Amino acid sequence: MRLTVFGTGYLGLTHAVCMAELGHEVLGVDIDAAKVEMLCAGHVPFFEPELAQLLTRNLESGRLGFTTSYAEASEFADLHFLCVGTPQKRGEKAADISHVDAVIDTLAPLLEHPAVIVGKSTVPVGTAARLGARVRAAAPAGDGVEVAWNPEFLREGKAVADTLRPDRLVVGVDRDRPGTAESALRDVYASMLDARIPFLVTDLATSELVKGSANAFLATKISFINAIAEICEATGADVTVLADALGHDARIGRSFLNAGLGFGGGCLPKDIRSFAARAGELGVDQALSFLREVDSINMRRRTKVLELVTQVCGGSLLGMNVAVLGAAFKPESDDVRDSPALNVAGMMQLHGANVTVYDPKAIENSRTIFPTLNYATSTSEACKRADVVLVATEWSEFAELQPSQLDSVVHGRVIVDGRNCLDPSLWRSAGWIYRGVGR
Ligand code: UDX
Repeated sequence: MRLTVFGTGYLGLTHAVCMAELGHEVLGVDIDAAKVEMLCAGHVPFFEPELAQLLTRNLESGRLGFTTSYAEASEFADLHFLCVGTPQKRGEKAADISHVDAVIDTLAPLLEHPAVIVGKSTVPVGTAARLGARVRAAAPAGDGVEVAWNPEFLREGKAVADTLRPDRLVVGVDRDRPGTAESALRDVYASMLDARIPFLVTDLATSELVKGSANAFLATKISFINAIAEICEATGADVTVLADALGHDARIGRSFLNAGLGFGGGCLPKDIRSFAARAGELGVDQALSFLREVDSINMRRRTKVLELVTQVCGGSLLGMNVAVLGAAFKPESDDVRDSPALNVAGMMQLHGANVTVYDPKAIENSRTIFPTLNYATSTSEACKRADVVLVATEWSEFAELQPSQLDSVVHGRVIVDGRNCLDPSLWRSAGWIYRGVGR
């Protein structure tokens, strides 16, 4: 099949590359000419395991290309995926869907033939129906243009695997205008669909809400365990052992019960805020007001870790050398958007600490948004003469650290485990002061 993908960020690029990998002819579209040039040359502008390899393979096969031209895109295919970003509006909680609107407004006048537009971006419920009316009003093909929604659930760091082997596919269609979207999407995904991957067809609003609810649930699960961590801290209990015990209950499950610095990144924080804001617009504010609590529990984790480091420094960070291991919002990613690690590093600097950060992949991105922090090129360089070491992102190279690697480098043998990824007894028996979160 021939298809286009509008937007070449994490979501769009991964989708374009994976669809080409399935054997389709794919044209990725982006308004950023420098990015398009980079992609045509086979360079992925961010770190995502497997993606660069797949990009090169599919460029070479001729199945994948990129352009800035909407005219070329409208000629190329009649099936268009919409994968542009929906960031948080500046100074507000709601999502900014101007990029989605811009694609629709530019593409619509070029749609001469019947076409299907499939949204994958995370949008406020009601967006798909609104876009359908908007595109039909502006397109020469008029009622021949159909809008469907097929939310994406991929995780950064596992984006390729999540796209090619998803837990489920959700397809929202306009129930008032039966069209070809469902069968087109069944064909698109046919080669990867098997009996284990449910293909759920819903109305437009339900499909948009599945995505919002999934992210809200995941964020709630993390904040739940972080709230319990606060109780553990007040009682001397161990939240990691508690989470293991809870996780054995199949109704609860162990995943997303890791207490620590909390969630960050380009999705969960902004998605729960915009979901709650949308509930307010719909006149059911109370229904999702708990998400504001989920957000505050999450942000409290960052202050808690700041306090913990201050405490082990004897009550003040002034003039203390702090090594921060990890800057990305999670391992296997170079993404520092709303990163708890960088946020805490910045707060410690504001409190007078001399902060040195090391991350295996995210240093370049960190420098761009936090140029005043010190950056090291290795764990041992970051820890040189450190009074305290803070593990802020659980990259495996940090989780597997041995005290002997740092013993002769640091000034003080004190480690704060902001992700509960280290073995406390290993560090304590080596003579270190170990402090975890909620344990
Ligand atoms: C998330 C959703 O998982 C994905 O389905 C959606 O499409 C986009 O948002 P992502 O942002 O890539 O994906 O990261 P995820 O793996 O969900 O982690 C989010 C944050 O939660 C990270 O900062 C992570 O460190 C934190 N986290 C995760 C915890 O603090 N504890 C946990 O137990 C799990």
